[in-house]
Amino acid sequence: MIFAANFKMNHTRASTREYLERLEGILRVEEYPFKVLVFPPATALCEGTDHITVGAQDAWGAEHGAYTGEIGLQQLREFAIDTVLLGHSERRHIVGESQERIAEKFAFYREHGFEIVYCVGEPLEVRKEGFEAVAEYLWEQFDGIDLDYERLIVAYEPVWAIGTGVAAETEQIAQTHDELRRRIKRPVLYGGSVKLDNIRSIAALENVDGVLVGSASLEVESFHGLMAAVAPGQIDMD
Ligand code: PGA
Repeated sequence: MIFAANFKMNHTRASTREYLERLEGILRVEEYPFKVLVFPPATALCEGTDHITVGAQDAWGAEHGAYTGEIGLQQLREFAIDTVLLGHSERRHIVGESQERIAEKFAFYREHGFEIVYCVGEPLEVRKEGFEAVAEYLWEQFDGIDLDYERLIVAYEPVWAIGTGVAAETEQIAQTHDELRRRIKRPVLYGGSVKLDNIRSIAALENVDGVLVGSASLEVESFHGLMAAVAPGQIDMD
C-alpha cells in the first residue's frame, strides 16, 4: 500500500525537515510494508530518507528556461528528486492548467524516467449527473497520458471531497476504482478527506492501492496514525 502526503502550500523548509526526521524515525522502528511519499512545497524540497521518497507537487516540463515562477528538472535534480505529482485538481481548477499542458509535463517527466503520481477527479456537478458522466470525465483526463508507463501511479481525487472533510462514500470509491482498473494496471490511490475515521474502509477496497492525503498528513502523528490503523497485525477495535 502507498501512503502519499500532499502538503500543498503548508510547511516551511525547517518544519519539513523536522517532519521528515520524525517520520523517518517512526518508519525505521515500525517497518511497515508501505511505500511512503511526501510532497512538500517547492521551497522545502530536499533529498528523501531511507523510508521516505520526497517528490515535487508539480514541475514544469523543461530542464530549465524562461518560465518565471516555475521549477523544472534542473531544480529537482539538485535534490535527486525523481518523483513528481501532476494534474492535481487545485492546479487544474484554481491555476487553470489545461489537459494539454499537463500531458506535456507528463511526457517530459516520463521521458526522464520519473515516478509520476497523476491525479484525476470530477467536480460535484459531474458527479451529480451520474456515474456514466463521471467515468467519461475521468477518462478525458487521461488524454495524452501513457497508461502503461511503468512508473505511473494514479490518484483518484473527487474535487468535491478534497479539503471538505467529507470523503466520497465507500461504494462511490469502489465503483470508480473498479472502472479505472479496467484500463489501468498501475497502482491507483484514493484522495479526498482521507482521515482516521475512514482509512480502514477505504484501504480495504480491492482496487484501492493507497491514499493521497492532504489535511490529515500535515502533522506527523496524524499521518502516521493512518498507517498504524491499517498496518498488518492491527487488532480491529471497532
Ligand atoms: P485532503 O486533500 O486530504 O485535505 O482532502 C487531498 C489532496 O488534495 O491531495
